[in-house]
Amino acid sequence: MQEVAYVNGVFCPMDQAKVSINDRGFQYGDSIYEVIAAYAGRPFQLEAHLDRLRASLEALSIPLDLSTLKIESVIREGLRRCGFEEAMAYIQISRGEAPRSHIPPADIRPTIVMTFRALPPVSPALRKHGASIMTAPEIRWAKCYIKATTLLPNVLTRMQARAAGFHDAIYVADGGDVREGTSSNVALVRDGRLIFPCRDQSILHGVTLLTVTECAAHLDIPWDERPVNVRELLTADEVFLTSTTEEVLPVTRIDGNPIGDGEVGPITRRMMETYADLTRGRGVFENRLRHSA
Ligand code: PDD
Repeated sequence: MQEVAYVNGVFCPMDQAKVSINDRGFQYGDSIYEVIAAYAGRPFQLEAHLDRLRASLEALSIPLDLSTLKIESVIREGLRRCGFEEAMAYIQISRGEAPRSHIPPADIRPTIVMTFRALPPVSPALRKHGASIMTAPEIRWAKCYIKATTLLPNVLTRMQARAAGFHDAIYVADGGDVREGTSSNVALVRDGRLIFPCRDQSILHGVTLLTVTECAAHLDIPWDERPVNVRELLTADEVFLTSTTEEVLPVTRIDGNPIGDGEVGPITRRMMETYADLTRGRGVFENRLRHSA
């Protein structure tokens, strides 16, 4: 009896199984899984698990035909090779391997990984006396201030936005509170003031947004950090996104409606230019480079 792995069509000993660090399962949590118990070497409720796996694949728009993959025979073969009387088959399918970008390339191929091990026994003491548990607040996933790699919702939203012809999307909570972009913060301009949502637990505290406040101080533009309602966003004079990779990115239309006059506004333009000068050490920032080395 031995633990067995399977990676993209090939069985191997567990310690030889490897996937790329560019795999989207690792980079984004852009993957799904199933755990199937096997008794007397036979997978239990296999059809129900495979139905759920198909539903998960469909929810992620991962185009993979499980029957072409002959998944049932792969699972049975893995169970046969590991030889445990009571076993646990773990199946993980990620969108595949590609250089990191929220939007995957069109030709990406899914990564399929399986492991086959002994089914861990439940402690007899727990069975006998029962378990002591606690209640916990439902936090799944309410801690967006953590720069965590579990980015599946962000990836799905960005893919949905792209498929509908938009560059990106801005999250709006129930009740209308504006949060952030799928990989950026959001700021708006109204009556010459910069306004952006509170940096609480519901958004990532962007370093670019922090830098924008420093640029605002430099440009004598006042700013407020406070709750922002979606109505206020849609009727703003100007809107822009901020992120390390997109820097200050003007937003001129939301849900098909123009923001302000539908052109890049004057404060956004100044902010974009000032940020570009600051990061590249140009103009007044020539001797004030913020780089650490
Ligand atoms: N994303 N909010 C989210 C959800 C983000 O993923 C990011 C950055 C930001 C802006 O943070 P900063 O200004 O520190 O880059 C806000 C990076 C760029 C990414 O995932 O590629």
